[in-house]
Amino acid sequence: MKGPVVCNRRGPLRGSISVPGDKSVSHRALLFSALATSPSRVVGLLDAEDVHSTRKAVEALGARVFTEGDAVVVEPPATLGEPGDVIDCGNSGTSLRLLCGVLSAVPGLSVLTGDASLRRRPVRRVIEPLRRMGANLSARGGDRVPPVVVRGGPLRGTRHAFEVASAQVKSACLLAGLFAEGETTVSEPSRSRDHTERMLSGMGVPITVSGNEVTVRPSRPRGLEIDVPGDISSAAFFLCAAAGLPGSEITVRNVGTNETRTGLLDVLAAMGAEVVQSNVRTIAGEPRADLGVRAADLRGTEIGGDLVPRLIDELPVIMVLATQARGRTVIRDAKELRVKESDRLAVMGEALVRAGAKVTLFDDGCVIQGPTPLRGLDVATRLDHRIAMSMAVAQLFMPEGETVRLDDVSCVATSFPPFFALLDQLCASARGASSAAPGGEA
Ligand code: S3P
Repeated sequence: MKGPVVCNRRGPLRGSISVPGDKSVSHRALLFSALATSPSRVVGLLDAEDVHSTRKAVEALGARVFTEGDAVVVEPPATLGEPGDVIDCGNSGTSLRLLCGVLSAVPGLSVLTGDASLRRRPVRRVIEPLRRMGANLSARGGDRVPPVVVRGGPLRGTRHAFEVASAQVKSACLLAGLFAEGETTVSEPSRSRDHTERMLSGMGVPITVSGNEVTVRPSRPRGLEIDVPGDISSAAFFLCAAAGLPGSEITVRNVGTNETRTGLLDVLAAMGAEVVQSNVRTIAGEPRADLGVRAADLRGTEIGGDLVPRLIDELPVIMVLATQARGRTVIRDAKELRVKESDRLAVMGEALVRAGAKVTLFDDGCVIQGPTPLRGLDVATRLDHRIAMSMAVAQLFMPEGETVRLDDVSCVATSFPPFFALLDQLCASARGASSAAPGGEA
């Protein structure tokens, strides 16, 4: 869906849905399979623009990717080859940063670029540690932002101690470590998402985890059967909307519940919402469950420290929910939000204030005082899918007749193409199928 849309849906939300595959796991499934010694089959792969960027990149490196029944098959090349053209990662920071690690070891020249949002996002954080491994990378603006130029060559295993928890930087170094001479160790101040460790381990790579430290030895992964769980970062929009909208009760089926990703569930519980996990199981190394949420009278909460990496992508919609909770919600240690697809603290803070919320911003977070009624507004989505979806959720908390006009929702296709359709479905289920009317123009 392109161009502006006006959201004018009415809650509550009711019913049962599934959300598309996890974006982080999907990128890794394609990229790691392309490095393997044998083909992989991936079920549940996210079909969205960011993952298409990674698919095109691995194809440019020589992998064959095709659909077979309900699976996507990745046939790796014997060795990765120099790409014939610039690799365009679109809006996807994960594609670009993980590829920096792999391309550091691919002989020849590679250039990575992206859209206007990605070309504003920091890359020195990945260039510097990779250089310590002997890699040859440089980027625009004094190594600050993409495009990134990589000349592949021999790498040496290195010990890295990072000041900021980042799964993308950690993964880039671990991937470079697969090709390096000697061991590579990455230590982080708090644990970031660990999908890389789980998947590489499943692919037979010697990788060990001890506290916040991960060590990998050089090795070539073997192909794997991968089953991608639903993305909790996509489910988050509906879970938050249902928790705050009186009369709501929903279930999102088959959601990934890896504990490095479930900070949102802790926050919902702390705010007083009832979240029930059922059908709990682990498939292909990743836990998953059906998540049920019922609306509750919410109270403010405090979010900071080790919790932040476990819900970093959910903070925009948590900010929306905090406007509806009684008392203060305090978010700290979330400076990373400023360097996502947009400066999410600034963009969400400013939009929510214009909608009538009480928000005070800090450099690394904010205080939101609730509950406040919200009013309609125009929002510039700034090539950031999570801004668009969070403000579509904010509209549900507005009185009848108040609308949110999003200037461009094409960004939603980067992670969650059926978002608006699923939101309509949950709103319509609440009204009963017979009286269902389109909930919004989006
Ligand atoms: C991701 C890591 C996180 C997250 C991003 C996906 C990943 O970024 O915000 O959406 O798949 O590794 P950082 O590594 O910058 O924290």
